[in-house]
Amino acid sequence: MGGRLQGKIAIITGAAQGMGAEHARVFVAEGAQVMLTDLQEAAGAALAAELGASARFMRHDISSADDWDAVIAATRAAFGPANVLLNNAGMYFIGPVDEADPERVRKLLEVNIYGTWLGISRIAPVMREAGGGSIINLSSLAGNHGIPWHAIYGASKWAVRGLTKSAAVDLGPSGIRVNAILPGAIAETGMAPPGGLDEAQLAAIPLRREGSKDEVSRLAVFLASDDSAYITGSDHVIDGGRGLW
Ligand SMILES: NC(=O)c1ccc[n+]([C@@H]2O[C@H](COP(=O)([O-])OP(=O)(O)OC[C@H]3O[C@@H](n4cnc5c(N)ncnc54)[C@H](O)[C@@H]3O)[C@@H](O)[C@H]2O)c1
Repeated sequence: MGGRLQGKIAIITGAAQGMGAEHARVFVAEGAQVMLTDLQEAAGAALAAELGASARFMRHDISSADDWDAVIAATRAAFGPANVLLNNAGMYFIGPVDEADPERVRKLLEVNIYGTWLGISRIAPVMREAGGGSIINLSSLAGNHGIPWHAIYGASKWAVRGLTKSAAVDLGPSGIRVNAILPGAIAETGMAPPGGLDEAQLAAIPLRREGSKDEVSRLAVFLASDDSAYITGSDHVIDGGRGLW
């Protein structure tokens, strides 16, 4: 890998495991300096140590405004003002729309919607001051379709797409781009079914396989880099064609 993210200072949330951890590895390999954040301290700190001088870790609850301010200040102290925010952290549960526990619903919406909005709102002044930046929000195939048992999670991911588009309009004049990634089934993540997809699920994917974390990271690199300089407010579907029919 090369230096496609040379000069980029990125905050990656939910970086202790799953896709976030892969994004952190790939971003560092591409030359970025990265602040990894997560609720899971041991795994996050271990990954940052493995990645060396270009990586730091901080405990961070994305639904806390104070935590966001602390992360943004620590990133500035370590590397300088962040010019990339990868809003990757999220919560997931599924079940029939009329059977979800109200407190669980409130918590998921708080983390996935409010937490994503907090990140956008707290980083915007920093990026504005730095002359621009790229914000990448993790939505989902469930944010583009009605999927069985995905009403709550899906609602949160539809909201992330809406936030992305409106924020892109508001922040575009400041040189801040805001885009969404909509993954389908990505293997070896906390949200993937243990043991992988069954035959019927694989048959519904035109490319007949799950995606890999690395394939999503490469899309995130593109959206973080200047290669995507004229792209904002866009949905970037990465699902092997699952959402086509
Ligand atoms: N895995 C998939 O197939 C898939 C598909 C579509 C979209 N996504 C989205 O991609 C993103 C990453 O998914 P993943 O499968 O790698 O997830 P994962 O469950 O493996 O990792 C999510 C991470 O977020 C952290 N986290 C949860 N709540 C947090 C909070 N309040 N503050 C800070 N960190 C918090 C967790 O500790 C965990 O490390 C999520 O936004 C998810 O909704 C995943």
